[in-house]
This record gives sequence, structure tokens and C-alpha cells, in this order.
Amino acid sequence: MEEKKNPMEAIFKREPWKPYLENLITTDTFMSSASRRSESLNGPWNFTEDIYNMCLRADWHKFSTSESIYETFSPFFPSLGIDPEQFPPSIAQEIDLTQFAPKMAPLDFDFEQWPLMKIPCCWNMTEEKYFNYEGSMVFTRKISQKAAHGERVFLRVAGANYRCAVFLDGDHLGTHLGGGGEFYVEVTDRLTEKDNRLILLVDNTRRGDQVPMDNCDWFNYGGLHRDIELIFTPEIFIKDFTCSLVPDGSFNNIRCTVQLSDPVDGEALLSIPELGDPVSIKIKKGGGEVKFSATPELWSPENPRLYDLSLSFSEDRVTDRIGFREIITKGSSILLNGKEIFLKGISCHEESVTNGRSLTELEVTENFKLIKELGGNFMRLAHYPHHIRSAQLADEMGILLWEEIPVYWAIDFENPVTLADAKNQLSELILRDRNRASVIIWSVGNENEDTPERFSFMKALVERARDLDTERLVSAACLVNWDELHVQDNLAAVLDVIGINEYFGWYYGGIEKMAPMFKEAEALNKPFIISETGGGALAGHHGEETDFFTEERQQKIYEDQIAIIKELPNIGGMTPWILYDFRAPFRTNSFQRGYNRKGLLSPDKKKRKLAFSTLQGFYQE
Ligand code: GCU
Repeated sequence: MEEKKNPMEAIFKREPWKPYLENLITTDTFMSSASRRSESLNGPWNFTEDIYNMCLRADWHKFSTSESIYETFSPFFPSLGIDPEQFPPSIAQEIDLTQFAPKMAPLDFDFEQWPLMKIPCCWNMTEEKYFNYEGSMVFTRKISQKAAHGERVFLRVAGANYRCAVFLDGDHLGTHLGGGGEFYVEVTDRLTEKDNRLILLVDNTRRGDQVPMDNCDWFNYGGLHRDIELIFTPEIFIKDFTCSLVPDGSFNNIRCTVQLSDPVDGEALLSIPELGDPVSIKIKKGGGEVKFSATPELWSPENPRLYDLSLSFSEDRVTDRIGFREIITKGSSILLNGKEIFLKGISCHEESVTNGRSLTELEVTENFKLIKELGGNFMRLAHYPHHIRSAQLADEMGILLWEEIPVYWAIDFENPVTLADAKNQLSELILRDRNRASVIIWSVGNENEDTPERFSFMKALVERARDLDTERLVSAACLVNWDELHVQDNLAAVLDVIGINEYFGWYYGGIEKMAPMFKEAEALNKPFIISETGGGALAGHHGEETDFFTEERQQKIYEDQIAIIKELPNIGGMTPWILYDFRAPFRTNSFQRGYNRKGLLSPDKKKRKLAFSTLQGFYQE
């Protein structure tokens, strides 16, 4: 006997999100889609803030179609004085109940009359009243594309922070967690020629069991901050593929792997015209791989050589632009294409004063041009997956990248749900960017306390990274044991490259101990990257180099750091913190005013601080 529905059930619900966290959207539905036919869903969406999550409590999504309204309302017909005999289910086809419903009950929402927000964007940057908004917002629009015969259609959301519940025509299709990764949901059988109502509920609330947790040193933007589109594919399609140089030191051994959408047999064809004739790839049960010899011009920062590639299977065809290069470590050295390299980098958040987390392509390019102007070849895209365009642009401009997921500070390391979330975010990042020559390092964490729980959590992430990608290095930004002043992070044992965040000269003194500390760490026989160092300075604020937040003090820190780093053989690179100042809510003193001031430039990148030329001098010498 179906439980009697209570019209007041919305006010009795205690955990509105609970039922919607059972069906998570993960990399099980990932597909590489960059070259596919797509129809953008960017543009004006109706929206409302929903800080009490009433959309989930009162099933607002059920009011998306005439049928779902009938199904929702019919149990209450008697109490509404409606004779069920007069209102059979077929009525839902004859009358559009979406127009009729507001006359049947005093609904607390009306999708079509809500205000509009231009997607993609961070809601924080649209109106002053949403700047610090933390909670849920409901976004909705109608879509009326339809799959042609034999086609399949997928909804692609390139990023939404933090939770995103997807509803289409009254059905919950799944919920995605994490603010940096793209996700896909198949909608082939759900789209009809009539308008279909799509609802995306986004909740950017910070929580202790999320990744990142509820305390971090950056601004908590919220919204549908990246592109939304429909992706069209044939019935059976190339779901994912990789193409790269086998890191065996020969530089003439290419490996290509293919994963189809379905477990069928057949033959795929890989074509890289500039490298010779097409190569056949035998497909068994939906998968296949091939190795073949070719001598590509190697990709490097000095020569970011990309090759046009196409891969076809039956009637499907995908394309990409691939750079071939090898990145390995040898003892305490990092070798790019067999030659030792020093990674001359800088860290960078994905943020602009105007657009928050939703950078324009111009703003990303501007950041990459700045590292080039510094004489650098490397960038740490901190602390979460940046937009897909970042690694594509870095491929074209010749900038090596460290990419990471926000396993940052006090993560709930004992929580299996948190680990699953972190693993999925790492998988989303790697599956999306593992064909990008510019990406050389996956980092699985930042400044986490060295406990046994954290070790097993992070070791699982390192193993996941290695399962998904064997052509890159795995790292993490580790802390140093400041009592005994040595690198004592157990995670170092499972990393290829050890990132060290050290702030000699800013958070603590004792810089004379830095060289001995790294000398002693030579025993680890692994390369280090100074993944953070530096100090704060308010652009234009001058004074003694002993005074905090003067440009002179920041410059002195860079001078002292560079003098030591250049003498240490096991430092394979550095990404000082940070290219430009960024919003950081707990940075409240009179110099900071809500910004972290460790940038080499002001937040709008218009003012350069003295330390910019200091670092430039080192990178250009
Ligand atoms: C930490 C952290 C950064 C932070 C920086 C700082 O190491 O990784 O996210 O902004 O130091 O204190 O400014």
C-alpha cells in the first residue's frame, strides 16, 4: 500500500539533500568531447536563491511537466475538491498542467517568472547581494533539441561549485560533487521535440567532509561557472582515448589507447598525417591499444609542437592536437625529453577581479603571457582543476603545468565518502587533461597533516593517478617538520616529485637552516619542487625590508630564497606563491582587506611589485 502522501511533508523533511546524494554523477559517464558536435546551453537561465533548500524539500522539480504535475497532485485531488473521475491521467496530455498548476495551489515558485542570470558565471560577481552568498541556487531553462535517429545526446556541465543536482522533466538524473571537474549525463531518450525543462540546483555550501573542506585560503565562488552544452554522438562512439610518447627514452615509440561507449569488436583508425600512414587499432570488447614507431618533433616550452590527430571507429570520428614529449625523474633530477630541466614557475589561482572563477580565455592567456615575461616555463594551477582551456592554451604556448585537486589542509581523511569524492575529482581531472603535453605533474594534496589516516587516503589517490596515467609525475605540496627542520613527510615515499611549501622569511625565520635541510633530504634521491614560498606586500606600500607587507620585504624574501635555491642540486623547480593577489576572506588586516597579498602583481594585474623583477632576473639569467 503506497504510504499516504502528506501535503505538508515538505516541512517535515530534515535532510533535503540526502535522497539526492545516492545517485552521484562520476567519471563512469566521462567522455572526451572537445571535438564533438555540440549545442551550447549558455545564456540566460531563470534562477532563484534557495537558501532553505525548499526546491528539494517541496519537489519543485516535479512541476516541470504536465505528467509529473498530475502524478504529484492527483493524490490530493479529493482534498482540493477535485473529483478524480473528472480528472483521469489522460488529462495531463489534454491540458498543459504547468500553466494550470498555479491556479490549483499557491505555489512558492514560478520558473518562467524568476529573474535571469547569464550562464556561465559565478553568482557572486552578478549582484552585490550575492557576493558572499553561500547556499543553494536553482537554475532552470527549457531545452528543445532532439536526437536525430541513431544519435545519442549527453548533457555536459564543464563545472559547477560545489554540489549540482540535475533534474530533467521532473526526474532526478544525478548529483555531481566538486567544483573543478566536468561531468556528463545521457539524455538521449528524455529529450522530445516539445520543450523539456532542465533544472540544475547548485549548492556552494562549505562542509567539513567535502574536498576542499570548510576552511581554505581562497574565495568560495558559487554557481554554474563553466560552459553547459549538449553533446551529440553516434549510437556507438569513441568514449575516450589517449595518445602519447611511451616514456622509454627512445622518443620514437607512440602509444594510443581507445575506449568505446559499448563492448563491441572492430577496428579503429588513428591518423596523424604528419607522422605517416594511418594506424589500425584492433578493438576487442570496446577497447584497444596500439604502439607504433614514429619520430615526432618533440614538444617543449621552447618548441610547443602540436600534431593534428584524428581517430575514427565506424561512423564516429574525433580529433585532437597532441604534443609528444617525455617527462621522467632520474635521481633528484627532472628530465624533459631526456634533458635535465629546472622548472621556472609561479603559482596561480583561477580568479579575476571581474569574473571571479569564470575566467575569460583572454584572462588565462594574459596569465600565461606573464609567466613567459618572467622568463618562466612552468605554472602551478592551484588549488583545484582549472578550466579545460588552460591546459589546451598551455600546450599551444609552451608552458609546463602542475595540476591539482583541492585535498587541502584538514580534509576528513577517515571518511570513505570524502575519499570517493577526492578520487572522482582526481579522475575527472586526469581523464580530461591526460592528452595535454603541457601537464607534467598531478598533485594529490596540499599541506596536510602527516597522520596515518592522511597517508592511506593520499596513497590511494597516488595509486588512482598511476592507474589512469603512466606518462606523468605524481606529487603533493608537503609540509616540513619545523621542530627538527627536516623533510619528514611519509607521503614522500610514494611520490615521484616532492613539493615543499616553505615560508622562510615570512611565517618563520631560520632561513639559514633551509640549505642544510634540503642537503639532508638528498638521501631521498628524489627531486623537490618549492611548491610555495614568498611573502605578502600591498602593491605600492614601501618601507623597510623588515616591515611586513612592504614591497621591500617581499623582494628581500625572493632575493634570499633565490640565493639558496640556485645552489641546491635537488631542487628541480619552484612555483613561488603567487602570480597575483587573490580574494581570501580570512585575510582581514589593513593591508589585506580580504585579499591574500603574496602576489607579484596586484589583483587586477595592473601594478607590479618589486619582487616581480627579482624573480624575472633569476629566471632570465
Ligand atoms: C599555504 C596555502 C596557500 C595559502 C598560502 C598563504 O601554503 O597552500 O593556499 O594561500 O600558504 O599562506 O598565503
